Amino acid sequence: MSNPHYFIETFGCQMNVADSELVAGMLQECGYSETRDMTQADIIFMNTCAIREKAEETVHHRLDSIQHLKKRKPEMIFGVLGCMAQNLKNDLLESKPYVDVILGPDSYRRIPEIINNRKKQNGYEVDTRLSKYEVYDNLLPSRHDGVNAYISISRGCDKFCTFCIVPFTRGRERSRSNESIIREVKDAVTNGFGEITLLGQNVNSYRTEEGRFPHLLEAVALVPGVKRIRYMSPHPQDMDDHLLQVMTEHENICNYVHLPLQAGSDRILRRMNRTYTKAEFLTLVDSIRKFMPNCSISTDIIVGFPGETTSEYEETLEVMNKVVFDRAFMFKYSSRPGTKAAEYMDQIDENIKQERLAQLIDLQQSHTLIANQRHIGKVLKVMVEKESKKSPQEWSGRTEGNMGVIFDKNDEQIKDIVNVLIQDAQGVSMFGNRVLEKEMIHEVN
Ligand code: SAH
Ligand code: SF4
Ligand code: F3S
Repeated sequence: MSNPHYFIETFGCQMNVADSELVAGMLQECGYSETRDMTQADIIFMNTCAIREKAEETVHHRLDSIQHLKKRKPEMIFGVLGCMAQNLKNDLLESKPYVDVILGPDSYRRIPEIINNRKKQNGYEVDTRLSKYEVYDNLLPSRHDGVNAYISISRGCDKFCTFCIVPFTRGRERSRSNESIIREVKDAVTNGFGEITLLGQNVNSYRTEEGRFPHLLEAVALVPGVKRIRYMSPHPQDMDDHLLQVMTEHENICNYVHLPLQAGSDRILRRMNRTYTKAEFLTLVDSIRKFMPNCSISTDIIVGFPGETTSEYEETLEVMNKVVFDRAFMFKYSSRPGTKAAEYMDQIDENIKQERLAQLIDLQQSHTLIANQRHIGKVLKVMVEKESKKSPQEWSGRTEGNMGVIFDKNDEQIKDIVNVLIQDAQGVSMFGNRVLEKEMIHEVN
């Protein structure tokens, strides 16, 4: 008989991607192989997200659309993992009786035991206990192909922004040891991952007895074979000159910061419990650009937070116009039951939120184009990631600033970092030509 198979589908953020890889590693230890065909699976896990109502709706639909697989194969384990499992707990079972395993983000070590129990009898398993300590040290993830390895350095969040469900679904903030992170980085490099992205809900509030985030970042930069390092997502409150200094000192740390703004008005920021003002955010941007003149900055923004007036919304546009972000992830506020902001009485009308979002997206599109056009005529370092979707003669790669570049193939390979002369910018992409080393006069960025 062939091995039993698992199928994992991941929703939500990179933390979930990293967690799915951990779970995959555990399932392989238990003798399961991956299948891309869910009809062949003996275990189906949906690793879910609860950040906005729409994220949960997507998962509800997906679960309903595949429930027939469980009916056809009752011995299959059909599990919901992650933030929505944590958020809805037993309620999920009431609406989805075909689901038989519900595990929150701190309960994945129970998986081998659940599989074993299942060999003896069918039954439900719900475990949504959150832990103050679990960081999944000593588990080896099974990574998917690609150039980038996501490595979680901390879990949970203690910031309690009033709109956000994450502190409730992921629990208290805790950091992994330096040593286990460095071990995982070395392992990723050995397995051919040249690019490392360090992950945490508040990646830069990482802190252990061995040191804080800048110290760890430096240690990762010094691991031989690490070509590129990114980190996501820092909180503006925890950015400091030491971190920026470390970024400038190591060539393999990308000149890129994802700096979530959320809103431009001080009153809204206070109501969001974001702990910085508009002026402090702008000063921080200046300081990033002082340390790294070519640094790309992306952001997250929410429109239509409860009570946001038109002029307060316009302050968000004002900050965007001042900063000109390279990229922005923009969202309509979505009320999450259990959070503080869900109790505010002055919720904003859906149509107004929609209008504000559309305007924001338009503005950002023009800014991304401006930011990319600034690179025309410059030579940027691009990591080759995959064949371009449009043509087998072209590569699609990424700049240090995390922007896509399309260029003609030469003799380079996937994961190489090459010099590309940028010639055009359209939409969110740039287009260019490889500059061979002997043709280089000087390097920019
Ligand atoms: N820890 C990260 C963000 C995690 S969630 C940080 O602090 O930056 C990713 C983004 O989703 C947030 O930055 C925010 O812009 C958005 N988001 C979170 N909760 C939301 C909600 N209730 N409605 C709309 N957007 C939300
Ligand atoms: Fe959510 Fe705020 Fe924590 Fe980010 S910092 S995960 S937005 S509570
Ligand atoms: Fe979603 Fe949980 Fe990430 S709510 S965004 S999967 S931390």
